[in-house]
Amino acid sequence: MKSTIIFLSMLAFISVSVFAQTVHKPVTKPATVSPVVNGKKIYLQYCLSCHQADGGGVQNMNPPLIGTQYVLGDKARLIKIVLKGFNDAVEINGQTYTNAMPAFNYLKDKDIADVLSYIRSHFGNKASAVKPAEVSLIRGPIVKTPNKKKYTVRSKNT
Ligand code: HEC
Repeated sequence: MKSTIIFLSMLAFISVSVFAQTVHKPVTKPATVSPVVNGKKIYLQYCLSCHQADGGGVQNMNPPLIGTQYVLGDKARLIKIVLKGFNDAVEINGQTYTNAMPAFNYLKDKDIADVLSYIRSHFGNKASAVKPAEVSLIRGPIVKTPNKKKYTVRSKNT
């Protein structure tokens, strides 16, 4: 009788601890990174070296991202700058810049959308966010090469 009681209480203890474990198991959610957090991360990793932490650029070499028509204006043109790079020596707020900007077509649609949303809402800029679908639409004519790693642009669309 005594051993039955011990057995039963052990059983109860085990089942309670098993139950407790199931209850306290952390819920695994799919990782969703907020656009602002991701946009800043991408900026620091890919844009900062030329455009600087405050978006001020480097005189005569890299233009600022503060209040320029390229950053605040047409989203399609802005997306193309990042997808294709930029080396037009245009005047940006009254100055020209000698450096060339490389293409970032290897970045995902979400990463490009987030970094552009980031620059459009920081450094004193106040423009609407860019959505991944808008990047995908512009990237449309860009096709993957057979090795599936590199992107090339169909010549008729360049
Ligand atoms: C190697 C340096 C370099 C890097 C890295 C770089 N850029 Fe640029 N960027 C430039 C230069 C130089 C120009 C101007 C090119 C010209 O005038 O022909 C430019 C122009 C621009 C413009 C349009 C002009 C303006 O100032 O409004 C935008 C927008 C821009 N870059 C965004 C970005 C973003 C976003 C990233 C990161 C994903 C990035 N750049 C990374 C050098 C760079």
